[in-house]
Amino acid sequence: MAPLQITPVHPVLGARVEGVDLTAAVDDATFRKIHDAFQEYSVLIFPGQRLTDAQQMAFTTRFGPLETTIKSIGQERRLHENMVDLSNVDPKAEERLMGWNDRRMLYQSGNQLWHTDSSFKPVPAMASLLSGREVPPTGGETEYVSMRHAHATLPAGLQRRLEGRVVVHSILYSRSTIAKGLFDPEHEQELPPVRQALVRTNPFNGRKAIYIGSHAWYIEGVDDAESRRLLDDLLAHTTRPECVYQHRWTQWDLVMWDNRAVLHRGRPWDAERYRRVMRRTTLAGEGPTADPPYATRTPAWDGIIPEGVGV
Ligand code: OGA
Ligand code: MN
Repeated sequence: MAPLQITPVHPVLGARVEGVDLTAAVDDATFRKIHDAFQEYSVLIFPGQRLTDAQQMAFTTRFGPLETTIKSIGQERRLHENMVDLSNVDPKAEERLMGWNDRRMLYQSGNQLWHTDSSFKPVPAMASLLSGREVPPTGGETEYVSMRHAHATLPAGLQRRLEGRVVVHSILYSRSTIAKGLFDPEHEQELPPVRQALVRTNPFNGRKAIYIGSHAWYIEGVDDAESRRLLDDLLAHTTRPECVYQHRWTQWDLVMWDNRAVLHRGRPWDAERYRRVMRRTTLAGEGPTADPPYATRTPAWDGIIPEGVGV
């Protein structure tokens, strides 16, 4: 096999990694280079990796422990608890394709909002690895932006203002912007809002990133309207078109991203026509980013969710 080759794909984030076979055990020297590239580039693309679930989990655990996933609506668990199933193929109805009006797909459509995985959990995910098992011929891309570059390009005064701030994240908040009733009341109880640092520092290289995304609900100690405006402005700054890396999937690409440093979103595709079957493993984070991890304020949903939003 050709030597490991790492090629940047965008001026501010992302690199292609070639010359490694992830279906087999990766030697320590190669792993170290991949690890360092991950810290540096935040998004790594490994083309041509025909991974089984077990192989994907094995590669992911080289970096650390896996995160178990929350049960999403309407999906009985068919896979290992460390695998996330992102698919429009209905397992219960003879592989029929589900359109965007299916409740399960509506829930998944939350992935089309800019987000960072499991920022609504007290210990948010460090990284995600997404394997394109079946990909549509057009649409269904995944886009990435760097929250590190976003931080670096903020005015110094604003950087100082954000330092030490805490943002409350909630998946009930983010999904409420799509549709009501996506969670059962008992399930809602299991998803209390959590506190996250607004500015995070990478322990390997000291680079700072803002930490926002769709689950970011409000900034503590800032008036609600001002907080919303600031979060919206930070998101607009982070997602300027020239900052976006769009990944167009080829079957058997594996894409790994650093949830501490990038936001991502899926793009729509013709879901009634084309199969899109993706499998994700998630690398657990090292600990909470704020202390204490849980928010005390009770969600005032009716005041926050605009009527008639979504479906
Ligand atoms: C994810 C995700 C988007 C996509 O796997 O965490 O947000 O394009 N995926 O499937
Ligand atoms: Mn995601």
